[in-house]
Amino acid sequence: MCGIVGYVGKNHGVDTILEALSRLEYRGYDSAGVAVLHDGQIQVRKKAGKLQGLVDHVHKHPLIGTIGIGHTRWATHGLPNETNAHPHSDSTGKLTIVHNGIIENYAELKEKLISKGHEFKSQTDTEVIVHLIEEHAKRMPLEQAFRLTLKEIRGSYAVCLLSADEPDRIFGARNGSPLIVGIGKGESFFASDVPAVLGRTRRVWYLNDGEVVELRASGPKITTLDGKLLKRQPTTIKWDLTAARKEGYAHFMLKEIHEQPTAIEQTLFNRLKPETGQITFNRSTRAFLDALKPQEKIIIIACGTAYHAGLVGEYMLEEFANIPVDVDLASEFRYRGAMLDKNTTVIAITQSGETADTLAGIRLAKKQGAKIFSICNVMGSSIARESDAVLYTHAGPEIAVASTKAYTSQVTALTLLTLYLAKKRKRFAPARWKQLVRDFAALPNVIKKALEKAPDVKSVAAKYAGCRNFYYLGRRYNFPSALEGALKLKEICPLIHAEGYAAGEMKHGPISLIRMGWPVVFIATKSPVYEKVISNIEEVRARRGDCIVIASEGDSHIKRYADSLITVPETEEIFSPIVSAIPLQLFAYYVAVANKCDVDQPPNLAKSVTVE
Ligand code: F6R
Repeated sequence: MCGIVGYVGKNHGVDTILEALSRLEYRGYDSAGVAVLHDGQIQVRKKAGKLQGLVDHVHKHPLIGTIGIGHTRWATHGLPNETNAHPHSDSTGKLTIVHNGIIENYAELKEKLISKGHEFKSQTDTEVIVHLIEEHAKRMPLEQAFRLTLKEIRGSYAVCLLSADEPDRIFGARNGSPLIVGIGKGESFFASDVPAVLGRTRRVWYLNDGEVVELRASGPKITTLDGKLLKRQPTTIKWDLTAARKEGYAHFMLKEIHEQPTAIEQTLFNRLKPETGQITFNRSTRAFLDALKPQEKIIIIACGTAYHAGLVGEYMLEEFANIPVDVDLASEFRYRGAMLDKNTTVIAITQSGETADTLAGIRLAKKQGAKIFSICNVMGSSIARESDAVLYTHAGPEIAVASTKAYTSQVTALTLLTLYLAKKRKRFAPARWKQLVRDFAALPNVIKKALEKAPDVKSVAAKYAGCRNFYYLGRRYNFPSALEGALKLKEICPLIHAEGYAAGEMKHGPISLIRMGWPVVFIATKSPVYEKVISNIEEVRARRGDCIVIASEGDSHIKRYADSLITVPETEEIFSPIVSAIPLQLFAYYVAVANKCDVDQPPNLAKSVTVE
C-alpha cells in the first residue's frame, strides 16, 4: 500500500527511482510519480494508473538529476488521479514530499494553512505536510522545520522530503508506516520495502517509529525526532532478487502457489526433526513458550488471509494443546475492549509484519500486560520487532497481492507451535506422536502431489469461469479453508462474488439463494465430520445447486455427490487445511486467468495494508 523511494547518489536518479518503484508494485497502487532535483530546480512527473504510464511519460519528457524521490499511491484521501498522485509540492515548488499513511488532523491543519494564504492543489491529506514544512521553514532551518512538522501531524506516516536548496540530502521519517534505508557504495536509498533496493545493496536499516534520517550519498545519519544521534548496525539481507522474480511463471501468484512445498520445508527447517522425533525452536522462542503457564489464554489477532490461518490455529491449539483460544480480526480487537492480563498471550499472525490494525492490536495488548508472540514472514518488520518472541515462517518474499504460500506457511508455523505445546503438556501417546511427526515431515511431498493436480483444477475452473456467484462450505478445520477459498476468488476476480460459510450454517440463511446451477465448492476431505459434509452436499443438490467437491484421493463413495471432483492426497485432519488450500488457490487463479483479471495486482487491493 503506497511505495516510497528516495535516492541520493551518482547514478541517473530517475531510472534508479523508477526501477525501485517497479519492485514495489506488488504493494498495490493506483498512480505513480517522481521528483528529481537538478541545477537548483525540482521537476515532477506524475501519472494515474500503472507505473508503465509514468515510465513512458518520463521517456517523452526526460528528467536528469542524481537525487530524487518517487511514489506509488494507493488512494485514501481523494480520487486516484494525476493531481492527487505524489510527490506533492509546497507553494514555491522548492519543497517536495512523498508520503505513505494517513494524517488524521489534516483538515484542521489545512484550514489554518489556508488562513495563512496557502493554496492547495490536491484533495490529499499529504499536501498539508509539505505546506506546514514550508510555513515553519520561513522562520527556521529546513531540518528543524521538518522535525517540528512531524511533531504537529497526527497519524501514520513514512515520509521523504526533497528540497531545491539541499542538493546533497533528503530527509525521511517514519511513524506507523514502513520505511527502510539502503546503504550502498556512494549511494543511499529510502524505500518502503527491501526488494526496492536489493539490486543495489544488501545492507539496510529498518527504521523505528519516531526516527528521522538524513540521507546523503556518503551514507545516512539516524536521529530521534528531537535530534539525538542514534547508532545502528545495518542488517544484511540474505535473499536476493531472483527470489522476487517470476522465473517463467505467468504470474507471481502461480509461482508462489508452486513454491509451497519449499516454503513449508523452510518453515519446518531445523524445527521439526523427524529423526529424533522432536520439535525445537531458537532459544528466545523456546524460552517464551516454556514460560507459558497452564492457565494461559491465547488470543490470536490477524487480518484477511492471516486471520483464516488464525482460525485453523484455534481448532488445533484447543484440540491438541488444550489451551483456550479466541481469534479476533485485528481491526475489531482494537476496539472491542478485550480483557487481557499477564496470563494472556496474544499471537499476531502477519505476512508483512506491517499491517496497521495488527500492529495497533499488539501495542494495545502490550499496554494491558499481555505477552506478544508473532508469526511473521518479513524479518525485521515492525510487528516482529515489537513482539516478545517471533516465529518466522521463512516463506520467502511474497509478491502477488493474494496470499498463498504465506498462508500455508502460517498454518505450518501454527501446527509446529501446537504440537510443541501439546507435547510439553504430555497430550500424546508415543506411537501417536511418532505418526504425527512422520506425517508432518511428509507434508511438503504431499503438497507436491496436490500441485500435480493443477491440470484437473484448471479444467474445472474453465467450466465455472462464467459464473458470478459462489459459495464455499466446509466444517471444522476446513471451515477456515472455505473462508480462505472464497477470499482468494473474490480478491483476484473482481467480477465475482464469493462467500465462505461453515457448512452447518447453510440452513440458517445462505441456502435460500441456492438454485439451479449455483456453484458451491465443498471441502469434503476425510475427517470426523465427513458424513456431515455429505449431508450438506445433499441439501445443495436437492436445490439443484452445482457441487464442486474437493475430496480425498481414493474416496470412491463421494463421486456420486459431485458435479465436479478435485482430489487431494489424504492426510490427518490437522494437516488438511494446508493440503486443501492448494486446489482452492489454483481454482481462484485459473478462474481469474480465464476472466482476464489482473491476477497479481487486483484493483483496489494492496499487499501491505499500512493504514487503518
Ligand atoms: C489476502 C491477503 C490479505 C492479507 C491481510 C493481512 O490474500 O493477502 O487478506 O492476508 O492484508 O496481511 P498481513 O499478513 O501482511 O498482515
